[in-house]
Amino acid sequence: MTSRVVLGCTSMTPHSYPDSPRRAEMVDVLRGALAAGVDTFDTSEIQGPFTGEELLGEALGGRGTVVTKFGWEIEDGTPTGRLNSRPEVIRASAEGSLRRLGRDQLDVYLQHRVDPQVPIEEVAGTIGELIQEGKVARFGLCEAAPDTIRRAHAECPLSVIQHEYSLWTRGPEATVLPVARELGLDVMAYSPLGKGFLAGSAQPNDDSSSPRLHAENFAANQQLAQALFALAEEWGMTSAQLALGWLLAQGADIYPVAGSTNLERIRANAAAQPLGPAQVEAVDAAVAAHPVAGARYTDKHLSFMDAGLETDSGTGQKP
Ligand SMILES: NC(=O)c1ccc[n+]([C@@H]2O[C@H](COP(=O)([O-])OP(=O)(O)OC[C@H]3O[C@@H](n4cnc5c(N)ncnc54)[C@H](OP(=O)(O)O)[C@@H]3O)[C@@H](O)[C@H]2O)c1
Repeated sequence: MTSRVVLGCTSMTPHSYPDSPRRAEMVDVLRGALAAGVDTFDTSEIQGPFTGEELLGEALGGRGTVVTKFGWEIEDGTPTGRLNSRPEVIRASAEGSLRRLGRDQLDVYLQHRVDPQVPIEEVAGTIGELIQEGKVARFGLCEAAPDTIRRAHAECPLSVIQHEYSLWTRGPEATVLPVARELGLDVMAYSPLGKGFLAGSAQPNDDSSSPRLHAENFAANQQLAQALFALAEEWGMTSAQLALGWLLAQGADIYPVAGSTNLERIRANAAAQPLGPAQVEAVDAAVAAHPVAGARYTDKHLSFMDAGLETDSGTGQKP
Protein backbone atom coordinates (compact mmCIF):
# COMPACT_ATOMS: atom_id res chain seq x y z
CA MET A 1 0.00 0.00 0.00
CA THR A 2 1.32 3.42 -0.80
CA SER A 3 -1.19 6.00 0.49
CA ARG A 4 -0.96 6.04 4.28
CA VAL A 5 -4.65 6.93 4.70
CA VAL A 6 -6.75 4.29 2.96
CA LEU A 7 -10.24 5.28 1.80
CA GLY A 8 -12.93 3.16 3.48
CA CYS A 9 -15.78 2.72 1.02
CA THR A 10 -18.50 1.05 3.14
CA SER A 11 -20.74 4.08 3.46
CA MET A 12 -20.52 4.76 -0.28
CA THR A 13 -22.15 1.48 -1.14
CA PRO A 14 -25.37 2.06 -2.99
CA HIS A 15 -28.15 -0.15 -1.73
CA SER A 16 -30.63 0.79 -4.45
CA TYR A 17 -28.24 -0.13 -7.22
CA PRO A 18 -28.08 0.34 -10.17
CA ASP A 19 -30.38 3.35 -10.45
CA SER A 20 -29.32 5.22 -7.34
CA PRO A 21 -28.38 8.82 -8.20
CA ARG A 22 -25.96 8.57 -5.29
CA ARG A 23 -24.04 5.91 -7.17
CA ALA A 24 -23.05 8.34 -9.94
CA GLU A 25 -22.03 10.85 -7.28
CA MET A 26 -19.86 8.25 -5.56
CA VAL A 27 -18.15 7.37 -8.85
CA ASP A 28 -17.15 11.05 -9.09
CA VAL A 29 -16.00 11.09 -5.46
CA LEU A 30 -13.85 8.00 -6.01
CA ARG A 31 -12.28 9.44 -9.15
CA GLY A 32 -11.67 12.72 -7.31
CA ALA A 33 -9.99 10.77 -4.51
CA LEU A 34 -7.70 9.05 -7.04
CA ALA A 35 -6.84 12.41 -8.57
CA ALA A 36 -6.03 13.71 -5.08
CA GLY A 37 -3.48 10.91 -4.59
CA VAL A 38 -5.54 8.43 -2.59
CA ASP A 39 -4.56 5.10 -4.07
CA THR A 40 -5.87 2.41 -1.75
CA PHE A 41 -9.57 1.64 -1.33
CA ASP A 42 -11.16 -0.73 1.18
CA THR A 43 -14.36 -2.65 0.46
CA SER A 44 -15.73 -6.19 0.77
CA GLU A 45 -17.98 -8.61 -1.04
CA ILE A 46 -20.67 -8.20 1.65
CA GLN A 47 -21.04 -4.45 0.98
CA GLY A 48 -24.35 -4.30 -0.85
CA PRO A 49 -23.76 -7.29 -1.16
CA PHE A 50 -21.61 -7.01 -4.26
CA THR A 51 -22.48 -3.39 -5.17
CA GLY A 52 -19.51 -1.98 -3.24
CA GLU A 53 -17.14 -3.95 -5.47
CA GLU A 54 -19.12 -3.08 -8.59
CA LEU A 55 -18.88 0.61 -7.70
CA LEU A 56 -15.10 0.41 -7.31
CA GLY A 57 -14.83 -1.61 -10.52
CA GLU A 58 -16.59 1.11 -12.45
CA ALA A 59 -15.01 4.13 -10.77
CA LEU A 60 -11.41 2.94 -10.66
CA GLY A 61 -11.26 1.04 -13.94
CA GLY A 62 -8.27 -0.95 -12.76
CA ARG A 63 -6.44 2.01 -11.18
CA GLY A 64 -5.37 2.09 -7.53
CA THR A 65 -5.11 -0.76 -5.05
CA VAL A 66 -8.29 -2.42 -3.83
CA VAL A 67 -8.58 -4.28 -0.55
CA THR A 68 -11.57 -6.62 -0.56
CA LYS A 69 -12.84 -9.36 1.72
CA PHE A 70 -14.59 -12.73 1.80
CA GLY A 71 -16.14 -14.71 4.62
CA TRP A 72 -19.71 -13.52 5.25
CA GLU A 73 -22.09 -16.05 3.74
CA ILE A 74 -24.30 -14.86 0.87
CA GLU A 75 -27.01 -17.17 -0.49
CA ASP A 76 -28.85 -16.22 -3.69
CA GLY A 77 -27.63 -12.65 -3.31
CA THR A 78 -28.81 -12.35 0.30
CA PRO A 79 -26.53 -12.27 3.36
CA THR A 80 -27.40 -15.05 5.80
CA GLY A 81 -25.71 -13.37 8.76
CA ARG A 82 -23.44 -16.41 9.15
CA LEU A 83 -19.74 -16.85 8.45
CA ASN A 84 -18.58 -19.22 5.74
CA SER A 85 -14.93 -19.61 4.73
CA ARG A 86 -15.12 -23.11 3.26
CA PRO A 87 -12.58 -23.48 0.41
CA GLU A 88 -15.18 -23.75 -2.36
CA VAL A 89 -16.97 -20.66 -1.02
CA ILE A 90 -13.70 -18.66 -0.95
CA ARG A 91 -12.97 -19.71 -4.54
CA ALA A 92 -16.44 -18.64 -5.72
CA SER A 93 -16.11 -15.34 -3.82
CA ALA A 94 -12.72 -14.63 -5.37
CA GLU A 95 -14.04 -15.26 -8.90
CA GLY A 96 -16.98 -12.93 -8.24
CA SER A 97 -14.75 -10.21 -6.78
CA LEU A 98 -12.36 -10.40 -9.76
CA ARG A 99 -15.30 -10.04 -12.15
CA ARG A 100 -16.97 -7.16 -10.28
CA LEU A 101 -13.72 -5.26 -9.78
CA GLY A 102 -12.73 -5.87 -13.41
CA ARG A 103 -9.26 -7.08 -12.42
CA ASP A 104 -7.08 -10.09 -13.24
CA GLN A 105 -5.80 -10.19 -9.69
CA LEU A 106 -7.14 -9.20 -6.26
CA ASP A 107 -4.54 -6.81 -4.81
CA VAL A 108 -5.25 -7.52 -1.14
CA TYR A 109 -7.68 -10.27 -0.11
CA LEU A 110 -8.78 -10.48 3.51
CA GLN A 111 -10.86 -12.91 5.51
CA HIS A 112 -13.53 -10.61 6.95
CA ARG A 113 -14.04 -12.59 10.16
CA VAL A 114 -12.38 -15.80 11.31
CA ASP A 115 -14.76 -18.73 10.73
CA PRO A 116 -14.70 -21.04 13.77
CA GLN A 117 -16.02 -23.90 11.61
CA VAL A 118 -13.09 -23.90 9.18
CA PRO A 119 -9.49 -24.38 10.38
CA ILE A 120 -7.45 -21.30 9.48
CA GLU A 121 -4.87 -23.58 7.81
CA GLU A 122 -7.54 -24.62 5.32
CA VAL A 123 -8.42 -20.98 4.61
CA ALA A 124 -4.76 -20.00 4.23
CA GLY A 125 -4.10 -23.06 2.03
CA THR A 126 -6.92 -22.01 -0.29
CA ILE A 127 -5.58 -18.46 -0.55
CA GLY A 128 -2.12 -19.94 -1.15
CA GLU A 129 -3.53 -21.78 -4.17
CA LEU A 130 -5.18 -18.58 -5.44
CA ILE A 131 -1.82 -16.79 -5.09
CA GLN A 132 -0.12 -19.59 -7.05
CA GLU A 133 -2.76 -19.18 -9.75
CA GLY A 134 -2.06 -15.43 -9.89
CA LYS A 135 -5.57 -14.52 -8.74
CA VAL A 136 -4.55 -12.98 -5.41
CA ALA A 137 -1.47 -10.84 -4.70
CA ARG A 138 -1.58 -10.36 -0.91
CA PHE A 139 -3.41 -12.15 1.90
CA GLY A 140 -4.71 -10.82 5.20
CA LEU A 141 -7.03 -11.41 8.14
CA CYS A 142 -9.45 -9.11 10.01
CA GLU A 143 -10.09 -9.19 13.75
CA ALA A 144 -7.94 -12.31 14.12
CA ALA A 145 -6.30 -13.38 17.39
CA PRO A 146 -2.48 -13.67 17.57
CA ASP A 147 -2.51 -17.47 17.48
CA THR A 148 -4.72 -17.48 14.38
CA ILE A 149 -2.39 -14.98 12.70
CA ARG A 150 0.63 -17.19 13.40
CA ARG A 151 -1.09 -20.38 12.18
CA ALA A 152 -2.30 -18.71 8.97
CA HIS A 153 1.10 -17.15 8.31
CA ALA A 154 2.81 -20.54 8.67
CA GLU A 155 0.56 -21.96 5.94
CA CYS A 156 0.53 -18.98 3.56
CA PRO A 157 2.46 -15.78 4.30
CA LEU A 158 0.22 -12.91 5.35
CA SER A 159 0.93 -9.31 4.25
CA VAL A 160 -1.59 -7.41 6.29
CA ILE A 161 -3.99 -7.58 9.18
CA GLN A 162 -7.01 -5.35 9.65
CA HIS A 163 -8.36 -4.47 13.07
CA GLU A 164 -10.37 -1.72 14.70
CA TYR A 165 -7.73 0.61 16.14
CA SER A 166 -7.91 4.26 17.12
CA LEU A 167 -7.09 6.59 19.97
CA TRP A 168 -10.15 5.27 21.83
CA THR A 169 -9.79 1.57 20.84
CA ARG A 170 -6.34 0.52 21.95
CA GLY A 171 -6.81 -3.20 22.64
CA PRO A 172 -4.75 -4.24 19.56
CA GLU A 173 -1.62 -2.73 21.12
CA ALA A 174 -1.50 -5.61 23.59
CA THR A 175 -2.63 -8.37 21.24
CA VAL A 176 -2.24 -8.21 17.47
CA LEU A 177 0.27 -5.37 17.07
CA PRO A 178 3.20 -7.26 18.64
CA VAL A 179 2.65 -10.31 16.44
CA ALA A 180 2.10 -8.17 13.33
CA ARG A 181 5.41 -6.41 13.99
CA GLU A 182 7.22 -9.65 14.66
CA LEU A 183 5.98 -11.05 11.33
CA GLY A 184 6.45 -7.77 9.41
CA LEU A 185 2.76 -7.28 8.52
CA ASP A 186 1.07 -3.99 7.66
CA VAL A 187 -1.76 -3.05 10.03
CA MET A 188 -4.92 -1.51 8.60
CA ALA A 189 -6.63 0.42 11.40
CA TYR A 190 -10.34 0.57 10.65
CA SER A 191 -12.89 3.00 12.12
CA PRO A 192 -10.00 5.38 12.91
CA LEU A 193 -12.46 8.26 13.38
CA GLY A 194 -14.61 6.34 15.83
CA LYS A 195 -17.33 6.10 13.16
CA GLY A 196 -17.32 9.89 12.89
CA PHE A 197 -17.41 10.63 16.65
CA LEU A 198 -13.74 11.63 16.84
CA ALA A 199 -14.23 13.80 13.73
CA GLY A 200 -17.18 15.60 15.29
CA SER A 201 -19.71 14.47 12.70
CA ALA A 202 -21.46 11.53 14.42
CA GLN A 203 -24.95 11.83 15.87
CA PRO A 204 -26.32 9.82 18.80
CA ASN A 205 -27.77 6.59 17.42
CA ASP A 206 -29.18 3.80 19.56
CA ASP A 207 -29.14 1.46 16.54
CA SER A 208 -25.41 1.85 15.94
CA SER A 209 -23.19 -1.24 16.01
CA SER A 210 -21.05 0.84 18.40
CA PRO A 211 -22.53 1.32 21.89
CA ARG A 212 -20.28 4.37 22.19
CA LEU A 213 -22.69 6.15 19.86
CA HIS A 214 -25.82 5.12 21.80
CA ALA A 215 -27.38 8.24 23.25
CA GLU A 216 -26.36 7.78 26.89
CA ASN A 217 -22.74 6.93 26.09
CA PHE A 218 -22.61 9.55 23.34
CA ALA A 219 -23.47 12.19 25.93
CA ALA A 220 -20.95 10.79 28.42
CA ASN A 221 -18.23 10.85 25.74
CA GLN A 222 -18.76 14.53 24.93
CA GLN A 223 -16.15 15.67 27.45
CA LEU A 224 -13.51 13.60 25.68
CA ALA A 225 -14.66 14.94 22.31
CA GLN A 226 -14.43 18.53 23.51
CA ALA A 227 -10.93 17.97 24.93
CA LEU A 228 -9.74 16.49 21.62
CA PHE A 229 -11.44 19.17 19.52
CA ALA A 230 -9.73 21.88 21.61
CA LEU A 231 -6.32 20.28 20.95
CA ALA A 232 -7.05 20.06 17.21
CA GLU A 233 -8.00 23.73 17.14
CA GLU A 234 -4.88 24.69 19.05
CA TRP A 235 -2.74 22.73 16.55
CA GLY A 236 -4.50 24.13 13.48
CA MET A 237 -5.83 20.81 12.21
CA THR A 238 -9.23 19.19 11.90
CA SER A 239 -10.31 16.77 14.62
CA ALA A 240 -10.24 14.02 11.96
CA GLN A 241 -6.61 14.90 11.18
CA LEU A 242 -5.83 14.69 14.91
CA ALA A 243 -7.32 11.18 15.15
CA LEU A 244 -5.53 10.06 11.95
CA GLY A 245 -2.28 11.80 12.95
CA TRP A 246 -2.34 9.97 16.27
CA LEU A 247 -2.53 6.63 14.42
CA LEU A 248 0.13 7.62 11.86
CA ALA A 249 2.43 8.43 14.78
CA GLN A 250 2.06 4.91 16.17
CA GLY A 251 4.33 3.49 13.44
CA ALA A 252 5.07 3.46 9.71
CA ASP A 253 3.29 0.10 9.52
CA ILE A 254 -0.11 1.57 10.51
CA TYR A 255 -2.56 2.43 7.71
CA PRO A 256 -5.75 4.13 8.93
CA VAL A 257 -8.84 3.18 6.89
CA ALA A 258 -10.97 6.32 7.08
CA GLY A 259 -14.48 6.18 5.66
CA SER A 260 -15.96 9.19 3.91
CA THR A 261 -18.39 9.97 1.12
CA ASN A 262 -17.27 13.60 0.89
CA LEU A 263 -14.40 14.56 -1.40
CA GLU A 264 -13.34 17.60 0.62
CA ARG A 265 -13.07 15.47 3.75
CA ILE A 266 -11.27 12.72 1.83
CA ARG A 267 -8.67 15.24 0.65
CA ALA A 268 -8.25 16.67 4.15
CA ASN A 269 -7.99 13.21 5.71
CA ALA A 270 -5.35 12.19 3.15
CA ALA A 271 -3.31 15.24 4.15
CA ALA A 272 -3.12 14.17 7.82
CA GLN A 273 0.43 14.09 9.18
CA PRO A 274 1.81 12.03 12.08
CA LEU A 275 1.49 13.90 15.37
CA GLY A 276 4.70 14.77 17.18
CA PRO A 277 5.62 13.03 20.47
CA ALA A 278 4.33 15.88 22.66
CA GLN A 279 1.05 15.91 20.73
CA VAL A 280 0.64 12.14 21.12
CA GLU A 281 1.24 12.58 24.85
CA ALA A 282 -1.40 15.32 25.05
CA VAL A 283 -3.97 13.13 23.24
CA ASP A 284 -3.18 10.16 25.47
CA ALA A 285 -3.59 12.40 28.54
CA ALA A 286 -6.97 13.64 27.27
CA VAL A 287 -8.19 10.05 26.78
CA ALA A 288 -6.84 9.03 30.20
CA ALA A 289 -8.70 11.94 31.81
CA HIS A 290 -12.02 11.00 30.16
CA PRO A 291 -12.43 7.20 30.10
CA VAL A 292 -14.56 6.10 27.17
CA ALA A 293 -18.17 5.10 27.87
CA GLY A 294 -19.38 2.06 25.94
CA ALA A 295 -17.77 -0.95 24.26
CA ARG A 296 -16.49 -0.70 20.70
CA TYR A 297 -19.18 -3.08 19.40
CA THR A 298 -22.45 -4.53 20.65
CA ASP A 299 -22.36 -8.07 22.11
CA LYS A 300 -23.86 -9.41 18.90
CA HIS A 301 -21.04 -7.93 16.81
CA LEU A 302 -18.41 -8.98 19.35
CA SER A 303 -19.70 -12.56 19.16
CA PHE A 304 -18.22 -12.76 15.62
CA MET A 305 -14.73 -11.84 16.77
CA ASP A 306 -12.06 -14.54 16.81
CA ALA A 307 -11.89 -16.65 19.99
CA GLY A 308 -9.04 -15.49 22.18
CA LEU A 309 -9.21 -11.94 20.92
CA GLU A 310 -9.68 -9.10 23.35
CA THR A 311 -13.04 -7.51 22.92
CA ASP A 312 -12.00 -4.11 24.24
CA SER A 313 -14.45 -3.26 26.94
CA GLY A 314 -13.91 0.34 25.99
CA THR A 315 -11.90 2.38 28.45
CA GLY A 316 -9.76 3.71 25.62
CA GLN A 317 -6.74 3.45 27.91
CA LYS A 318 -3.37 2.18 26.79
CA PRO A 319 -3.45 -1.53 27.66
N1 LIG B 1 -12.84 -5.15 8.50
C1 LIG B 1 -13.93 -4.78 9.11
O1 LIG B 1 -14.61 -5.57 9.74
C2 LIG B 1 -14.36 -3.33 9.06
C3 LIG B 1 -15.35 -2.88 9.95
C4 LIG B 1 -15.72 -1.54 9.89
C5 LIG B 1 -15.12 -0.69 8.97
N2 LIG B 1 -14.18 -1.18 8.12
C6 LIG B 1 -13.54 -0.30 7.10
O2 LIG B 1 -13.14 0.92 7.70
C7 LIG B 1 -13.74 2.01 7.02
C8 LIG B 1 -13.98 3.15 7.98
O3 LIG B 1 -14.70 2.73 9.11
P1 LIG B 1 -16.04 3.44 9.61
O4 LIG B 1 -16.78 4.00 8.45
O5 LIG B 1 -16.66 2.47 10.54
O6 LIG B 1 -15.55 4.62 10.54
P2 LIG B 1 -14.62 5.90 10.49
O7 LIG B 1 -13.74 5.92 9.31
O8 LIG B 1 -14.02 5.96 11.84
O9 LIG B 1 -15.67 7.10 10.38
C9 LIG B 1 -16.43 7.33 9.23
C10 LIG B 1 -17.37 8.49 9.50
O10 LIG B 1 -16.61 9.68 9.71
C11 LIG B 1 -17.12 10.73 8.88
N3 LIG B 1 -15.95 11.53 8.46
C12 LIG B 1 -14.92 11.12 7.69
N4 LIG B 1 -14.02 12.11 7.54
C13 LIG B 1 -14.50 13.17 8.22
C14 LIG B 1 -14.02 14.49 8.42
N5 LIG B 1 -12.87 14.90 7.91
N6 LIG B 1 -14.76 15.33 9.19
C15 LIG B 1 -15.93 14.92 9.73
N7 LIG B 1 -16.45 13.68 9.56
C16 LIG B 1 -15.73 12.81 8.81
C17 LIG B 1 -17.81 10.05 7.74
O11 LIG B 1 -18.88 10.81 7.26
P3 LIG B 1 -18.92 11.39 5.73
O12 LIG B 1 -19.10 10.23 4.82
O13 LIG B 1 -20.12 12.27 5.73
O14 LIG B 1 -17.63 12.13 5.51
C18 LIG B 1 -18.33 8.76 8.39
O15 LIG B 1 -19.60 8.98 8.97
C19 LIG B 1 -15.00 1.42 6.37
O16 LIG B 1 -15.44 2.18 5.27
C20 LIG B 1 -14.49 0.07 5.96
O17 LIG B 1 -13.73 0.20 4.75
C21 LIG B 1 -13.77 -2.47 8.16
